[in-house]
Amino acid sequence: MSDKPVGIGIIGLGNMGKNHIRNYARIDTCKVIGICDVQDDVLEQFSKEYDCKGFKDLTKFLNTPGLDAVSITSPTRTHYTIAKQAILSGKHVLIEKPICDNVDHAQELIELAEKHNRKLLVGHIERFNPAVLKLKEILASGTIGKPTSLIAKRVGAFPAQIKDANVIIDLAVHDIDIFSYLLDQTPTEITGNAGRALNSNREDYAQIFLKYGDQSGIIQVNWITPIRIRNLSITGTKGYVELNYMTQSLMLYESNYSSDFDSFGDFIIKFGEPNKQEVILEKQEPLKLELSHFIECIQQDKTPLITGLQGKKALEIALEVIKKIY
Ligand SMILES: NC(=O)c1ccc[n+]([C@@H]2O[C@H](COP(=O)([O-])OP(=O)(O)OC[C@H]3O[C@@H](n4cnc5c(N)ncnc54)[C@H](O)[C@@H]3O)[C@@H](O)[C@H]2O)c1
Repeated sequence: MSDKPVGIGIIGLGNMGKNHIRNYARIDTCKVIGICDVQDDVLEQFSKEYDCKGFKDLTKFLNTPGLDAVSITSPTRTHYTIAKQAILSGKHVLIEKPICDNVDHAQELIELAEKHNRKLLVGHIERFNPAVLKLKEILASGTIGKPTSLIAKRVGAFPAQIKDANVIIDLAVHDIDIFSYLLDQTPTEITGNAGRALNSNREDYAQIFLKYGDQSGIIQVNWITPIRIRNLSITGTKGYVELNYMTQSLMLYESNYSSDFDSFGDFIIKFGEPNKQEVILEKQEPLKLELSHFIECIQQDKTPLITGLQGKKALEIALEVIKKIY
C-alpha cells in the first residue's frame, strides 16, 4: 500500500478524455502529469488548463518522469497499440470501453498486464452508476424474485466524433456488460437484427436478444432516435424495477399477488396493486467513482472491479451479435 499520489496521464483529449482529466484533477490521491494527443490545439488547451505537459509523441509521453498510470481515451481502433506500448513501458492502464476491437488483441493485453504486474481496468462506466449498484443489491436481496427479462434501451442522435465503431460495439457493449454483471452469467444464445438507417458504412441501429437459460435480455440501441434515452427495466417473479441511467433514478414495484382457486376449482393468481417505491439515491458522477477506484487499485494493489477479462467478454458478445446478424 502506498500513500504517494499516483502520477496520471491521459491519451486522447476528446469527448471522453476531457472528462477523465476534469475528474482526475478533483481526486487528491493522484496528480495529472501529462497528456498526449495527435492534435496541437487540443494539447495546448488542456496542458494550459491543467498545468501539465502535452505530448504528440507517445514514446516521449510514456517516458515522462513520475508517470505511473494512463487513461486511454483515444478512438477504439487505437486502444490495442497504445495500451500495449503503455503496459510494456510499465504503466497501469485504464482503457475506455470497448477494450479494443479484436478479441485476440484483448487477450494479448490481458496477458501482458498480468505478466508485467500492471493494473488493467476497462471503462465500463455504468458499473459505477449508483443506480446500478443499488439494483445489484436489490436483485441479490430477492425483492423482485428471479429476473425473467431485462430490457435495455440506449438510443439517441448520432455522435459525430465516433468514426470507427458501429452502434453495437460502441453502445450495446455497455448493456451487454451490465446484463452479465447483474445476472452473474454470460449468454447461452445470441441473436439480433441491425441496419444502416442514416449511415451507409456502419450499423446505426440494432435490436439484440440474449438468452441466459430461461432468462433473457433485450437491448435496443441506435443513433437515430431524436432524443437520448438510457433505461433498463427488469421483470422478476416477484416484482419489477425501472432504472434511468442518466437521472440515476430507480423505481421498484413489489408484486402483490395471492394464489387461490376460483369457484370452479381452477387455480388462479390474483394481482393486487403493487407496492411502489422510489429508491432514493445519492447522485454521484460514475466517472469520478471509476477513476478513484482505478487509483485505489494501484495504491492498494487491488483487483479492478472490471477486469480485462470482463472487458474482453463484453467485446466477444458484441462481435458475436454482429456475426449472427450477417
Ligand atoms: N464510457 C463511456 O460512456 C464512453 C463515452 C464516450 C466515448 N467512450 C470511448 O472513449 C473513446 C474515445 O471516444 P471519444 O468520443 O472521446 O472520441 P473523440 O474523437 O471525441 O476523442 C478522441 C481523441 O483522441 C485523439 N486521438 C486520436 N488518435 C490518437 C492517437 N493515436 N494518440 C493520441 N490521441 C489520439 C483525438 O485527437 C481526440 O482528441 C472511445 O473508445 C469510446 O468508445 C466511452
